[in-house]
Amino acid sequence: MSGGSEEEANQFDRTYGRFADSIYAAIRSEAFGEDIGQNSWITADELRSFCGWLELTPTSELLDVASGSGGPALFIVKSTGCRVTGVDVHEAGVAVAVANSRSAGLAERTRFVHADARRALPFADGQFDAILSIDAMNHFYDRAGLLQEFRRLLRPGGRLLFTNAVTLTGLLRKEEMVERSYGMGEFVFTPMGYDQKNVVAAGFELLRMEDLTDTVARVARAWHEARAKRTADLDRIEGVDQNAAMQRFLDSVSTLALERRLSRPAYLARRD
Ligand SMILES: C[S@@+](CC[C@H](N)C(=O)[O-])C[C@H]1O[C@@H](n2cnc3c(N)ncnc32)[C@H](O)[C@@H]1O
Repeated sequence: MSGGSEEEANQFDRTYGRFADSIYAAIRSEAFGEDIGQNSWITADELRSFCGWLELTPTSELLDVASGSGGPALFIVKSTGCRVTGVDVHEAGVAVAVANSRSAGLAERTRFVHADARRALPFADGQFDAILSIDAMNHFYDRAGLLQEFRRLLRPGGRLLFTNAVTLTGLLRKEEMVERSYGMGEFVFTPMGYDQKNVVAAGFELLRMEDLTDTVARVARAWHEARAKRTADLDRIEGVDQNAAMQRFLDSVSTLALERRLSRPAYLARRD
């Protein structure tokens, strides 16, 4: 990925390489209350609501953009019976998603594809009833181009739902921006209002906008605490420096959300 050093670009791959280990599953359970294999701030309750917002049924075709290791996508398939295609730029995440879909017996209703969503995606026009993208908009600078591509992929009347956990609603110092974007390659901070404007400009009707910042403050704090209880193990697995960097990151995420300097709106829109 562009926009970061080699060390930074491998952060997601390192995460996904260890994703299934029991220590990380235990940490996710404590941080989120329910481990659904997420690598974001999404909770199971939010995702249940999102299934309703997207009006998913067993006949729906959903595209999950930046699907990570597929946990949220598989949860949606189990909850609604719909079919899901997930795309992610990190091969290690896609590999975990494929393995998990097989072991959950959901391979026939899911497909995980290695693709960079900064470029045209390998799917036909109007192929999807709904598109979801959870906490990944910060990896896309060309927001207008991405939304045009979403519009191309959705059938008329299809629904789009995305969250953006890095929406600026206050002042950030230089070092806070560096801390918040640590290890994630291309990373973009979005001023509040920008996504909303681009959604409408791309030919969508904005149906709903909800502030989900509280989840970030709560989950990041609980995640930090769950990891702090396991410092010795994480120092051994990740290395002392890496573990400390992750803890600083979670601390910073929680503080910025609590102080409402960074917000996490969710946007629901309908293609015209
Ligand atoms: C915070 S994670 C969210 C993963 C997943 N949506 C979830 O909720 O568990 C952000 C994801 O964006 C993916 N990503 C970053 N840049 C991307 C790109 N250009 N194309 C596709 N995926 C990308 C990363 O690999 C990572 O899996």
